Formats: sequence, C-alpha cells, structure tokens
Amino acid sequence: MPELLRAEALTTDLGRRAGFLRPAVSLRAVDGVTLSIAEGEAFGVVGESGCGKTTLARTLLGLQREAAGEITLAGRRVSGLAPAEARRLRADIQYVHQDPGAALDPWWRVGATLDEGLRIHGVGDAAERAARIAEMLAAVGLDADFGQRYPHELSGGQQRRIGLARILLLRPKLVILDEPTAGLDLSVQASVLRLLAELRARFGLTYLFISHDLTVVRRVCDRVAVMYLGQVVEEGPAEALFARPAHPYTRALLAAAPHLDGRAAGPSLPGEPPSLRRIPAGCRFHPRCTRASALCAAQTPPTEAAGPAHHVACHHWREAA
Ligand SMILES: Nc1ncnc2c1ncn2[C@@H]1O[C@H](COP(=O)(O)OP(=O)(O)OP(=O)(O)O)[C@@H](O)[C@H]1O
Ligand code: SF4
Ligand SMILES: [Mg+2]
Repeated sequence: MPELLRAEALTTDLGRRAGFLRPAVSLRAVDGVTLSIAEGEAFGVVGESGCGKTTLARTLLGLQREAAGEITLAGRRVSGLAPAEARRLRADIQYVHQDPGAALDPWWRVGATLDEGLRIHGVGDAAERAARIAEMLAAVGLDADFGQRYPHELSGGQQRRIGLARILLLRPKLVILDEPTAGLDLSVQASVLRLLAELRARFGLTYLFISHDLTVVRRVCDRVAVMYLGQVVEEGPAEALFARPAHPYTRALLAAAPHLDGRAAGPSLPGEPPSLRRIPAGCRFHPRCTRASALCAAQTPPTEAAGPAHHVACHHWREAA
C-alpha cells in the first residue's frame, strides 16, 4: 500500500517562551521520531503516560509546531508552515480527543455540534447536513434522537461514538485515535473496538492508534511503535513485536499488561515513571532496565534491524532475545 503519512526525525518542544526576567522553559516532548504509515493501515503508538504520544499526535495534526524534522502527507511536504496553514494542509488528518467530553461543547446539543462542523467545512445546505448527520449517527451505532442530547446526557462510550461521528463527517483519510478506550469498562471497550474496525473497513480509513494499553493495541494494530521519553525505542509488525519483543522496555510493558484471556497483569514496571526534566544520559531507559551495563549509561544505542521491518534501539537486544 502507498505511504499516507511520514514523519522524519520529528522533534517538538513544549513550554514557555522567554520574557522579561523570565528564562525560557522548554521540554523536548518528542525527540527525533521517524515513522511511516501506509494507506489503510492501523498503526499503534504505545508507551507510559507522559512519553509524548499526544504531543506527537498534535504535531502530526499541525496543532503543535515542530521544532525540527519533516512531515509528508500523501507525498506532499506539510511541515515548516505557520499553524493555520499547517492545519489547512492537513485537513485529511482528524483527531479523536483523549478526553471525549472535551471535544464537545457542554452548552450545545450534540446535533448542533455536528452541524457546526459541517457548516465550517462549507456544507451549506441544511437538509444535506441533517441527512449526513443522521447517516453518520447510524454508522456509529446511535439513533438519530441522540442529536437532541447534551454531552452530559451521554455515557463515556456514547461520547466516544459522537466524537467519531463528528470527525468522520469531515471525511478524513487518517484518523488519530488518542486513547479511544481509556476509562471504559471491558464490554464497552470491546464494542468501541468492534466499531472502529467496522468504520475503518467501511470508510477506507487509516488509523494512528495511541494507547498505553498493549492488550488493546494488539487487537487493533498492524504495526506498532513503542515510545519512551519522546523517542521510538522499538517498531515493527504487531505480530512480531508481541511474539518477539526485542527491547527490554517493550518486554516490561508486555509483562505488566493484562492478558488477552483476562488473566491479571504481571508486575508493574520497575522504578519511577520518566520525567522530561531529568533525561538520563546514554540509553534513556537505563535507570530502570534490568539489563543495563556501563555502555548503556554512556552511549545512546543505535537503531538496528531485529527482523523484517522490525527495529530496535538497544545495545543488548541480541543477548536478551
Ligand atoms: N503545554 C505543555 N507545556 C509543557 N509541558 C507539557 C505540555 N503538555 C504536555 N507536556 C509534557 O510533555 C510530556 C508529554 O506529554 P504528552 O501529553 O504528549 O504525553 P502522553 O504520552 O500523551 O501522556 P498520557 O498517556 O498521560 O496522555 C509530559 O512530560 C507532559 O508533562
Ligand atoms: S540499551 Fe541497555 S539500558 Fe537501554 S534498554 Fe538496552 S539493555 Fe537496557
Ligand atoms: Mg496523551
């Protein structure tokens, strides 16, 4: 399949600009991320809270300006632009917010929110907008009368369905799903995942699927990138990555994830969750890694091939295999 989205050495700094008697405070939340997503693919990004998943998504969307690196969408360079232009050129990418309620106006019935999105995008005819909204509500498994409800009258699962309807009305090619099942109980999670698979097939969508939950990523994604402190430490086909994880961090995440058959999770990851304010020298994972050597503390590991289309950044991945 042709490549739809490519990020090359993408870097994003967050924080405050310098002011009078005030030094700039900036954190590098995404640091040299390279990834390529093919048309029709479901590409997963996993990692602990704070590793930069949402910042990566916002940078790809054009909501956050990249400090360095390049983004191409369907072969066209869309990076290095002012925010409004960046977002305009990336209209084919839409984002489903990590907090589904935050994307809906609490004072508006959801039908009005959906209608507003279409009007902003130039669909002028009210009857056509109403027909499209009814059709999209049905596609996400909701009755047309849900349009009359306010956001607080929806369950978490229903809010997510409305969030999907809102962006699918804009006919995107690539949908970034930020933690689409977080906070939902297992049966609702399963129905949201089924719906995502249906919608992907029906509308020919490509997904960038962000989650800290490996069990969910495993069910949905064709390929997966594992992020640690703003960097991709392992990337590969989902099957290979879950069957033969090469990076100690991926292994630790997998060991800590609940099993697909419902068995409880193993021990959680050792050590403190990472902070961007204190990035360790050498391999960023070394203070928490059970395999760390003196080399790990001194030198950044190179990225090497661990199998077909499977890459890992670890000095000792061969010994761990
Ligand atoms: N506006 C901001 N200014 C400064 N730092 C920020 C800002 N937003 C996020 N950060 C920091 O950037 C890092 C990456 O945050 P981000 O939200 O991208 O992580 P995440 O992987 O999406 O986490 P989560 O799983 O909790 O959603 C974190 O350390 C966070 O504290
Ligand atoms: S490079 Fe060293 S510290 Fe980093 S993950 Fe590999 S073994 Fe662990
Ligand atoms: Mg996030």
